[in-house]
Amino acid sequence: MRFEIITIFPDIFKSYFSESLIKKAKDNDLIEINIHDLREYSENKWGDVDGKPYGGGRGMVMKVEPIYKAVKDVRLEGKNSKVILFTPRGTDYTQKKATEYSKLDQLIMICGRYEGVDERVKTHIADESISIGDYVLIGGEIPAMAVLESVSRLVPGVVGIDNEGFLEERVRDKGMIEYPQYSRPEVFTTDDGEKWSVPEVLLSGHHKNIEKWREEKGEIIK
Ligand code: ADE
Repeated sequence: MRFEIITIFPDIFKSYFSESLIKKAKDNDLIEINIHDLREYSENKWGDVDGKPYGGGRGMVMKVEPIYKAVKDVRLEGKNSKVILFTPRGTDYTQKKATEYSKLDQLIMICGRYEGVDERVKTHIADESISIGDYVLIGGEIPAMAVLESVSRLVPGVVGIDNEGFLEERVRDKGMIEYPQYSRPEVFTTDDGEKWSVPEVLLSGHHKNIEKWREEKGEIIK
């Protein structure tokens, strides 16, 4: 699985992708991440990638030409790839989408900035516009990290947990099950003497009852 991120702030990603499981997944060649500085695709020597909006109004708009050139340059021929544009006006990002993207060979992500992106990127270049929630961020860089992380953990071998458990298998078509988890100690005593206990069933060693409890308490993330 290969990710391409098109951004005007390539450095934002550096530390994030050099830590923890994402770093490990890269080192083990399970995923490949390429970060592309959009300014390198600018038509002028100053690296401009934005312009004033037609019709007037606030702020600047990201131009279509550099994005067109960048996508054309990074897209792999003959591979199963998709181009997504991050915008608060996009389709809601879900676990189902993450699963869909995890089956691609290449995911190209365009990070919007400024007051917006020339609409022709949405209508002619991107296959999908994606929003990660009903709030407005300053740019698409955090959405790109969220999508990359949620897709990567579905790539076999990236997360070392047992995804093939009985419960996971049973709900697989519906989404991903997330249930409450506990670890030692069995009883945690606060400074005020309050006691916070682990549910009895988890200490019982009775696997069927544990599965049943997890199914009851769990939430399916679609
Ligand atoms: N850009 C700004 N806000 C965004 C959001 N909520 N989702 C995706 N891209 C964005």
